[in-house]
Amino acid sequence: DEADKGTYPFYMLKEVDEQPNVMRKLAQTYLSEHGEPEIDDKLLKAMQAADRLYIVGAGTSYHAGLIGKRLFENLAHIPTEVHVSSEFAYEQPMLSEKPFFIFLTQSGETADSREVLVNVNDAGYPSLTITNVQNSTLSREATYTLLLHAGPEIAVASTKAYTAQIALEAILAKALGEVTGQIIAQNFNIRQQLGLVATGMQAIVDEKDKLEAISNNYLLKTNRAFYIGRGIDHAVSLEAALKLKEISYIQCEGFASGELKHGTIALIEEGTPVIGFITQEKTAGLTRSNLQETMARGAKTLTIVREGLAVDGDDLILPDVDEMLMPLLSVVPAQLLAYYTSLNKGLDVDKPRNLAKSVTVE
Ligand code: G6P
Repeated sequence: DEADKGTYPFYMLKEVDEQPNVMRKLAQTYLSEHGEPEIDDKLLKAMQAADRLYIVGAGTSYHAGLIGKRLFENLAHIPTEVHVSSEFAYEQPMLSEKPFFIFLTQSGETADSREVLVNVNDAGYPSLTITNVQNSTLSREATYTLLLHAGPEIAVASTKAYTAQIALEAILAKALGEVTGQIIAQNFNIRQQLGLVATGMQAIVDEKDKLEAISNNYLLKTNRAFYIGRGIDHAVSLEAALKLKEISYIQCEGFASGELKHGTIALIEEGTPVIGFITQEKTAGLTRSNLQETMARGAKTLTIVREGLAVDGDDLILPDVDEMLMPLLSVVPAQLLAYYTSLNKGLDVDKPRNLAKSVTVE
């Protein structure tokens, strides 16, 4: 049974470990034997006709949307906005002439996101729901659906649905970029990349002892922490911080590393953990100096770095994949750091207080 915990103490750990297979499953499902995306033509035509994409989601799905924006803009050259569904529903931004909506929702049942879809349908705009649950409400009510095929996600803290959403967005962005004739999309070898991602994820989940030791050393005894990065690394830092907050109850902010100095750095005290993501060549040096700035104020810093950008003294080295797909790897140590911190605090990892897996009220 897919929903069986087996020998795992908690579903979350099982679901983290399943991620390499989820990547392979998505490649099998959505790529041809030659590695070309196989996406419904009608869906691609509808997206091609749009002048702007609007990605809507809540929680972790919203965070997956922040990565999707980069993928759709880079690979398909379509301007893309990302919105928190509970905000969009009651303060709709001015829309472009031909909007296309993408709903990201693991469960397909989130009331905040559904409220937006109801409005979108009333206005007659085309939409796509990317979800893990076939026949869920948002899947039924949107014009198109793509399934994540991640298998049931039971732990409240979402892990494999986040990486599945990003991988599927990448496949879709590649498909769209190809039909609109973008060279960068044509040259993007998605099958090879997803293969590298799967292998890379496996290497990270095989380092559980090291991640548990880092959790013990950096996070277990703190009640405040930061994840920082720039650009796509900032987007991942938001998800990394959410994981830690949800299951360990440590107050953690994901922050744009360059923005820290404009106020928030005042929170850094002796021993405050600051974890930096460094996976993008353009901003690696800048994030390193921002980490230095926190260290000078007493922070206990940790670097999570893509191999090609690593220097002596870096703490966690991630295998290299295309920079656009680095979030698929950089989030994994953060998931495991959250897991071990929660576990060793003796908390219920799978069922954190105050939270529900699927929130069907606004
Ligand atoms: C709840 C869950 C979160 C999830 C969010 C959105 O708050 O606790 O983990 O990210 O809903 O859920 P969805 O099913 O729409 O992705």
